[in-house]
Amino acid sequence: MEQPDWNEKPLRELMRHIVRRHHGYLRVALPEVHGRMQRVFAAGGGQAAERPLGRVFAEMWDEMDLHLEKEETILFPYIERLEAAREAGLGIPAARSEWGENPLGLMEDEHASAIAAMETMRRLAGGYEGCAHHGELMAGLEDLRLDLRVHIHLENNILFPRVRRMM
Ligand SMILES: [Fe+2]
Ligand SMILES: [Fe+2]
Repeated sequence: MEQPDWNEKPLRELMRHIVRRHHGYLRVALPEVHGRMQRVFAAGGGQAAERPLGRVFAEMWDEMDLHLEKEETILFPYIERLEAAREAGLGIPAARSEWGENPLGLMEDEHASAIAAMETMRRLAGGYEGCAHHGELMAGLEDLRLDLRVHIHLENNILFPRVRRMM
């Protein structure tokens, strides 16, 4: 499917695309990959939470849930107001007080942390080679990594720079 030029489209369309396509994907894929991980662990015996791979995954999942929520409930609605104000020739709208000094920088840090977690998981998951279900776990992690790469590219390299130019 041909991708629109996101440098040209209104930000509200880009954000709608990110939420539908990439946030929607994560909300389905994270539980799915978790299930695959459980099957690998079950085949080897023991509890997922005791294992470093299970811990890194659980932490990443929690962080991602919060991250998506922050974008959807605070950051993206603010960007919509900012874009509307700019289109109307108005000034920069006030941000909600709980939104800190550098919201875009915070999101970028969380993206970097998710990418680092994906790399760690890939390395740790490699240790289960030979285990039943290993292949499907690696494939699930790879899908996650690839989608996350596109998702983060749209935010870090297109959405956020465009927002910074509006401020
Ligand atoms: Fe996002
Ligand atoms: Fe994000």
